[in-house]
Amino acid sequence: MNARTSTNATSTVPAIETLPASIVNVADHMHFAETRLDPQAWAYFSGGAGDEITLRANRDAWNSIHIVPRVMRAMPGGHTRVSLLGKTLLHPLLLAPVAFQQLAHADGELASAYAAAVNGAGMVLSTQSSTGLESVAAAFKSEASAGPLWFQLYMQHDRGFTRDLVLRAEAAGYEALVLTVDAASSGARDGERRVQFKLPAHISAVNLQGLPPWQMPPLAAGESAMFDRLLMHAPTWDDIDWLKSISKLPVIIKGVLHEADAAIAIDRGADGLVVSNHGGRTLDTVPATASVLPRIADTVSGRIPLLVDGGIRRGTDVLKAIGLGATAVMIGRPYVCGLANAGAVGVAHVLRLLCDELEIAMALSGVATLADAKSVINPPTVNYK
Ligand code: FNR
Ligand code: LAC
Repeated sequence: MNARTSTNATSTVPAIETLPASIVNVADHMHFAETRLDPQAWAYFSGGAGDEITLRANRDAWNSIHIVPRVMRAMPGGHTRVSLLGKTLLHPLLLAPVAFQQLAHADGELASAYAAAVNGAGMVLSTQSSTGLESVAAAFKSEASAGPLWFQLYMQHDRGFTRDLVLRAEAAGYEALVLTVDAASSGARDGERRVQFKLPAHISAVNLQGLPPWQMPPLAAGESAMFDRLLMHAPTWDDIDWLKSISKLPVIIKGVLHEADAAIAIDRGADGLVVSNHGGRTLDTVPATASVLPRIADTVSGRIPLLVDGGIRRGTDVLKAIGLGATAVMIGRPYVCGLANAGAVGVAHVLRLLCDELEIAMALSGVATLADAKSVINPPTVNYK
């Protein structure tokens, strides 16, 4: 078995691969992936920013929340379904946007798309996908069970190019735009710097082909390359209006950690929010997503869908997230590790494990439907301005 080289790279159907029977949870997948991937790819996929305080905090926060089960409840008709932007999903799991998935496996985003679609999971494709957005949409939509398919947008320095990219995604059948707002600059990722991470020549952000290179205008005296140049292209609140003026797609804002921003996003017409710290990869020492979720859920108060990601590794974490007010959750590294371990089969296995664990958690806590998850979760207390 060689998970990194597809046996049928010329076909659009991913290879069927096998996994060691000793892999029984997401952590096992992550440990196994470390042994499969080369140090460069592992540094890219696994790393966080700075001292990785937020990366660890994401995990610690889910671990520190208790489920206080209710017993002896009858649970006929129980299920894991949720509704999201007008669609009913079999369960509340989506694949978070992760760039350059061909670094994990030759089948890359196509394998993730098949696995998600077959398992009824949603998928958010990264702007920096290593596979064309049209092929991913075709693979995903070939399955009747497919959940929602969304396109994650990084605004580009060329507005015309960004507009065309959005229109391409809309034409290909993506059902929402997920505008990522927490990565205006790359994080300081020491792990990648240590191994001098560089994409191999055959992997690139293919959807950005044809983007004219950015010529940074010369700096005047006192101007800053960061604030006066690089950040010229970062998204601002006005971009929600702009996106809605060029496309009919709902706009979901990814990367919100403060409830004041959640309130602004709703005022400015956002159709959904993702509470995210980019899996601890951008600004280190920001709070764990689980710890800010309850305050944001209070502010949003059911007006728009609220998703969360960061450190979700167990079905119990999914139950906790929904209990704290999320509509659905996204996973990042877990499925990329599944992809590295066994292509589409690995991604499908990760999704299956989490769904099974979620059902077990619901059964054992007396929660027949996710609408009732709140009754068994105690929100953590957090104080900040
Ligand atoms: C990401 N993430 C990300 N987010 C985004 O909006 N666009 C992107 O292209 C990427 N790329 C990316 C690459 C890699 C290697 C990782 C690990 C993450 C962030 C991602 O969508 C999500 O927020 C986190 O991965 C969630 O945390 P966990 O599940 O990885 O802990
Ligand atoms: C990352 C960028 C691509 O986290 O979002 O690597």
